[in-house]
Amino acid sequence: MGNRRTATLSDLDSGLLRGARVLVRVDFNVPLSSDGEVGDDTRLRAALPTLRDLRDAGARTILVSHLGRPKGSVDPSYSLGPVAPALGRLLEVEVPLLTERPGSPGLEKKIGSMGDGDVVLLENIRFLPGETANETELAQDLASLCDHFVGDAFGTAHRAHASTDGVPRTVRKKGGRAVAGHLVERELRFLRETLARPERPFVSVMGGAKISGKIDLIEVILPRVDRLLIGGAMANTFFQALGLDTGESLVEPDRVEMARELLERAGDKLMLPVDCVVGDTISDDAQVRSVDRTDVGGKDRIGDIGPRSRELFSREIRGARTLLWNGPMGVFEATPFAEGTLQVARDMAEATDGGAVTVVGGGDSAAAAELAGVADRLSHISTGGGASLDLLAGKTLPGVEALETIEDAGGGEGS
Ligand code: 3PG
Repeated sequence: MGNRRTATLSDLDSGLLRGARVLVRVDFNVPLSSDGEVGDDTRLRAALPTLRDLRDAGARTILVSHLGRPKGSVDPSYSLGPVAPALGRLLEVEVPLLTERPGSPGLEKKIGSMGDGDVVLLENIRFLPGETANETELAQDLASLCDHFVGDAFGTAHRAHASTDGVPRTVRKKGGRAVAGHLVERELRFLRETLARPERPFVSVMGGAKISGKIDLIEVILPRVDRLLIGGAMANTFFQALGLDTGESLVEPDRVEMARELLERAGDKLMLPVDCVVGDTISDDAQVRSVDRTDVGGKDRIGDIGPRSRELFSREIRGARTLLWNGPMGVFEATPFAEGTLQVARDMAEATDGGAVTVVGGGDSAAAAELAGVADRLSHISTGGGASLDLLAGKTLPGVEALETIEDAGGGEGS
């Protein structure tokens, strides 16, 4: 018997889609610039494979997304207004923004007049209180607009909201299909499948400010990896567990005991920085120097891993066949503290060129890969922050759970 796996757009017969109304939950929660334009269109571009396939198949595509965290009522500063034309330019088709509410005759009329291959975007779904509350009525109103559902909002798949959970379940109940789009399919393949059966050595690089936000991931990843490299402010808490002085650096005092226990359990699998870049402040104009981790002064602030640590980490990364990176090595937004993180990004790219599979778990590390100019040389950069952390930590994602599964004789990503 094969594995059960999440059904995807590729499993649908394209004849089913011609003339069909397909509601696609996308994650267009993009940063807007000060002049109200889309500041980073990565998430729009990530949705294009699904949207192009739907257009080619002659579907009538209704896009639903959130932007920011409006409080369940209309707030113009969170309008998807700037997103519709930006998407239209990428898709080379006009994408009208429909501001009528789901359940209103006005919206039904506009959807009813769509032609095959048309694409429309509904206004920010979080303007409605029923969205985050996963209200049945909103789910039914949205489901009544479509024949089928495609879940492609990977970044929001860890939320059980009306548009990620209630709608696909309602669509399935009324006989429609509810499958994953190409983006979600790709994210599951890299984050779940590749890491479940990694080619070795398997090395994970973890950073960021807090152990507390990553502890679930560390617990899951530790038994699976050959090496776990830890940098970022998270390393400071481990330094304290080793009895080292961390000066004025950021630490989590209530996690020192947890760090000590992890160090004992992990043995030499876990590698910490041996030196650090310290400054009088953490800013662009900080006075910095590199010191051994045993020589951090009482007034110092640790902002990055030091040159010897960069070299040590580099060797591990370049020797790996599978790499998972989550979290920066320092405050890379400030130039004096950027090198450790940029070096990791460059080493990941080198490893990929040499045939390694490299996966970046979204958020800050994705931004660092962009800054280092290596984003397109890595195997996969997740579009999800919280969603990728949850998935990697072995949690189920409501936005994936609500979709159909099918028996896959070839063995898919499992369910
Ligand atoms: C994200 O950017 O992480 C997703 O769009 C989810 O947004 P949320 O944390 O506001 O649910």
